[in-house]
Amino acid sequence: MSGPLIGMKVVVSAGPTFEDIDPARFLGNRSSGKMGFAIAAVAAQRGAEVVLVAGPVHLPTPEGVRRVDVRSAAQMHRAVMDALPCDLYIGAAAVADFTPRAPLERKLKKQPGQDVLVLELVRTRDILADVAAHPQRPAQVVGFAAETNDVAAYARSKLERKGLDLICANQVGLPGCGFESDDNALLVIDAHGDRPLGPAPKHVLAAQLLDLIGQRIRGGRT
Ligand code: CTP
Repeated sequence: MSGPLIGMKVVVSAGPTFEDIDPARFLGNRSSGKMGFAIAAVAAQRGAEVVLVAGPVHLPTPEGVRRVDVRSAAQMHRAVMDALPCDLYIGAAAVADFTPRAPLERKLKKQPGQDVLVLELVRTRDILADVAAHPQRPAQVVGFAAETNDVAAYARSKLERKGLDLICANQVGLPGCGFESDDNALLVIDAHGDRPLGPAPKHVLAAQLLDLIGQRIRGGRT
């Protein structure tokens, strides 16, 4: 095996999480997992040892990648923590920010005349922020931010709040890009500035993103 990432361990999270309401229903989101899977594939091609923590998606496992399948945000948190230490963590998953307080053991039945249902949701643990604050913090911690408006400003505040090295902002709703698409456009932001990548196929963006991260690692930028 050869390649610029040889000797490095990379952990990538990808896809949505499903938060169970009862045995028949869940809260999910539209993430396809394609961006995270593309990053994992390119990292493995470049010689890294790759652990891909995947939410519920129907995508083939990229060659040379160790895949850990999970369903909920809590399971994803545990699997990522179990995969540490590593040199690089890329949080490409669309993790639920809230989950039902207690999933029901039996199917929720509607009551006669019931017009409104109130679901009580509680915050999930932030995997990305926990990785960035971990005693065995990876040298590079990279997040994603999906925004509909004020993309750069919101993403930069996430970079600072979560203690990240780099954040990749997606504008949600850009025609031909995003969740279920094969193409995407990113604004990659660090402490020094920002740089647009794409629009391009997700595997091309994955290669460009890993080029940027590789430069940061070699340049010793933290
Ligand atoms: N993330 C995570 N754990 C969570 C929630 C999010 O690791 N419980 C990570 C995602 O993998 C992604 C980034 O955090 O890398 C997204 O940040 P988040 O604050 O969740 O952004 P949004 O989902 O866009 O939510 P909002 O803008 O409402 O804060």
